[in-house]
Parts: sequence; C-alpha cells; structure tokens
Amino acid sequence: MFKIAIIGCGSMGITYAKAFLKNNIVTQKDILLIEKNAEAKERLKPFGNVSNVIDEKIKGFDTIILSTKPQDAKVVLLELRKFIQAHQTVISIMAGVTIKALQQELNHTSIIRAMPNTPAQLGMGITGFCAAKETKIQDILKADNLLNTTGKTVFFENEEKLDAVTALSGSGPAYFYIIVNAMIEAGKKMGIEESVSAMLVKQTMNGAFHLMNNAESSIDDLIKAVASKGGTTEAAMQKFSELNLNEAIMEGILAAEKRAKELSKI
Ligand SMILES: NC(=O)c1ccc[n+]([C@@H]2O[C@H](COP(=O)([O-])OP(=O)(O)OC[C@H]3O[C@@H](n4cnc5c(N)ncnc54)[C@H](OP(=O)(O)O)[C@@H]3O)[C@@H](O)[C@H]2O)c1
Repeated sequence: MFKIAIIGCGSMGITYAKAFLKNNIVTQKDILLIEKNAEAKERLKPFGNVSNVIDEKIKGFDTIILSTKPQDAKVVLLELRKFIQAHQTVISIMAGVTIKALQQELNHTSIIRAMPNTPAQLGMGITGFCAAKETKIQDILKADNLLNTTGKTVFFENEEKLDAVTALSGSGPAYFYIIVNAMIEAGKKMGIEESVSAMLVKQTMNGAFHLMNNAESSIDDLIKAVASKGGTTEAAMQKFSELNLNEAIMEGILAAEKRAKELSKI
C-alpha cells in the first residue's frame, strides 16, 4: 500500500490526490497534503490529512510528490532536506528543476522527474517522466503506477527529452485552446453568435479528435477527405500556407523547448 505526501496542493497537487483516491491506490488517511495557503485547508480536507508545514510527519510516507511552483523549489527543498528518509522516493513535477538540482538540494538519490499536463484533471493527461540513475526499478514502476492514474505515461531515459515533452504536451493544451479561440472568433466575424460558434467549433474538435483516433487513415488522408480540389477547405489551407501557419506552430513549440532548457539552468 502507498503512503503519499504531496507538497503544494494547487491545481496539479490536488489532481494527484483525487486521482489516487479515485483509482483506489490509497485511502484518504494515507495521503498527507502539505499546503502553505491557509485558505485551502477546508477545500483539501476530503482528500487527505492537511498540514501547512513540512515536518516530522513526512517521515511516515514512502512517496513524496513535489508540486509547488518552480520559484518555490528552493524553500521547499531546504525544508524537506531536514526530514527526508533514505527509503523515500521523490516525484517532482516542477518544470525546469533538474534531477541533479533535486539530488543536490535534498541530499537524496531516489528521484523521479515528471512532466504532466492539465487534462490530468480528467484522467486524460499524458506524463513524460524520467528517473535518477540511482532510483530502484521497483520505485520507478511504483511512480509509473501513480502517474498513470492521471492518464498515459511515457518513460524517457534521457532527462533532456523532458524539455521537448514540456514544450509539446506540457504546454500543448494551451496551443489547442488558442486554435479553438481563433476558430470561435472567425465564426463571430462571419456573423455567428459566440455561443453557437463555440458549440460548432468544440464539437468539430471533439468529433475530429475521435475520428483521428478511430479511423484507419493517416492524418494526411483525413485532411484530404475534407479538402476537395478547388473547394473551401483548400482555400483556407492556401491562406494558412501563405501565412506560414505550420512553421509558426513549429517555431512556437521550439521556442517553448528553448525556454524549458533555459529554466533548467537557473
Ligand atoms: N499547470 C500545468 O499545466 C502544469 C503542467 C506540468 C507541470 N506543472 C508543474 O506543476 C507545478 C504546480 O503547478 P500548479 O499549476 O498546480 O501550481 P499552483 O496551482 O500555484 O500550486 C502550487 C501550490 O503550492 C503552494 N505552495 C507554495 N509554496 C509552498 C510551500 N513551501 N509548502 C507548501 N505549499 C506551497 C502554493 O501556495 P500559494 O498559492 O499560497 O503560493 C500553491 O497552492 C509547477 O511546478 C508546474 O511547473 C504544471
């Protein structure tokens, strides 16, 4: 049975507590939620034992999830270092905080670094993760069991790949919403009421997503099936091409990867 402490119970931290409970990985008494925001106490109570400090209590938990913002990492790691036990495994989802930095700040070797995304809230996320070389295989598998309660997981041997994961799937939901927003705006420009435009666009995205996952055709074939010669879709694609839409999206994602690399050097 797991005993899990979660430090930083904002949107991601609480997502994990809920997912563990929903998947019967633990019961509420086996979760310790450490959250400095005093107002969060009542909200967190149904999901675990709530505390606002890192103290002796944490010694009784085998897995520690770090889900504070990266800018709070220094303070959290300094506190945790005083209580961490050799048998414990730390799973950090803090963007840009490297395994080496975590090991040094905590004076601890068993570390998993993971990059989830927000659809984790629905159990539909995807998490890229990697492990410090000292982490035992059974602890990596246990971490995988925990992380995949929020969706799929992909293990990477090379930690540097997490920068690409951050840029692709970590930030990915925002790219999708930007496209959805632009489509809704286009609907409004064509005289469709906002709520109707939103309904048309969201259901189109939903349907297209399921078709992509269920059809046997490639993505290129699915595009061809909509875009007939000289038709409306082709007119749109012509404009996208003139405006270098594909390049813009790819360049944006590479800029996100570059930023992830910069953040991990701070
Ligand atoms: N959101 C995403 O899409 C996403 C995706 C992948 C990874 N991540 C990573 O997930 C982490 C958490 O993101 P989030 O969106 O859940 O952030 P969040 O909602 O701001 O949650 C962080 C929580 O940690 C609390 N906290 C700060 N210092 C603390 C301390 N010393 N002890 C205990 N609690 C403390 C914060 O309280 P205060 O508000 O009072 O400061 C806040 O409630 C980040 O490192 C981020 O890089 C996020």
